[in-house]
Amino acid sequence: MLKKIRIWDLPTRLFHWLFAIAVLGAIITDLLEQIEWHSYCGYSALVLVVFRIIWGFIGPYHARFSSFIPGLTDLKLFLKDHQTRHLGHNPLGALSVIAMLLIVIVQASSGLFADDEISFQGPLAKYVSEDIVKLMNSIHELNHWLVYGIVLLHLGAIFYYQRMKKENLLGPMVHGDKEIDDQKEMPALEEVTSKDDIKIRGLAILILLLLVVLFRYFILK
Ligand code: HEM
Ligand code: HEM
Repeated sequence: MLKKIRIWDLPTRLFHWLFAIAVLGAIITDLLEQIEWHSYCGYSALVLVVFRIIWGFIGPYHARFSSFIPGLTDLKLFLKDHQTRHLGHNPLGALSVIAMLLIVIVQASSGLFADDEISFQGPLAKYVSEDIVKLMNSIHELNHWLVYGIVLLHLGAIFYYQRMKKENLLGPMVHGDKEIDDQKEMPALEEVTSKDDIKIRGLAILILLLLVVLFRYFILK
């Protein structure tokens, strides 16, 4: 019998779509030379990434790093036999999730110290030497290619799964659920549902609000 189970809790889904908007927003506002808006998108991406890291430790089952960061054996097995279905991120997808989070942290935090030498200075640039500002400018400039690369790879992978493997990853990132056939699924498939009740959603809102206040107080003071 087909059974729906919750994989992506609402906070993880909202994180994803807001994060996608913030990162794409930072790219577009840079291209449009709207540096003020660029900084707002970058701040949002940074706060969201910190939220996602905390959520990776205390969030529901499939949001937790411990449930999806693969060991070397998991990775080898997955590369050998792509047939194994994973309810959450598959081992290769998991590595790209970690890469996306790290690359965006480097991009957004170097931006805090950057200076466009025309009209805008990141909020922490005034606390560091000119050499550090130059270094951060270079990191921000070089790392933006990694941001472009990982976003393209991400979109390419989603498209590949949709078209070639006929696996719809997008739907679950929108409504949260995947369907399993409890008679036919392989034994390796754990039937684990992510908690997604009012308590866990409330906790996510509290954490996000706290991060916004801390960011406002310590970074944008
Ligand atoms: C997701 C986060 C971010 C992304 C994807 C991003 C992306 C970019 C890109 C693509 C450029 C142009 C680089 C070049 O062509 O040299 C740029 C420049 C810049 N960004 Fe960001 N950025 C982010 C966050 C931030 C943040 C948080 C700040 C600071 C508030 C910031 C401040 C700047 C400044 C000042 C420049 C101009 C640097 C220069 O003229 O050398 N960025 N950013
Ligand atoms: C608008 C186009 C986008 C679509 C259609 C999309 C789609 C998806 C889907 C379907 C997943 C789940 C993958 C899985 O099942 O393993 C996912 C995960 C993820 N995507 Fe995107 N994505 C988009 C843009 C972005 C952008 C711009 C970023 C920024 C770097 C991003 C970062 C992530 C991250 C970090 C995850 C992991 C989510 C988590 O575990 O919290 N996505 N995306």
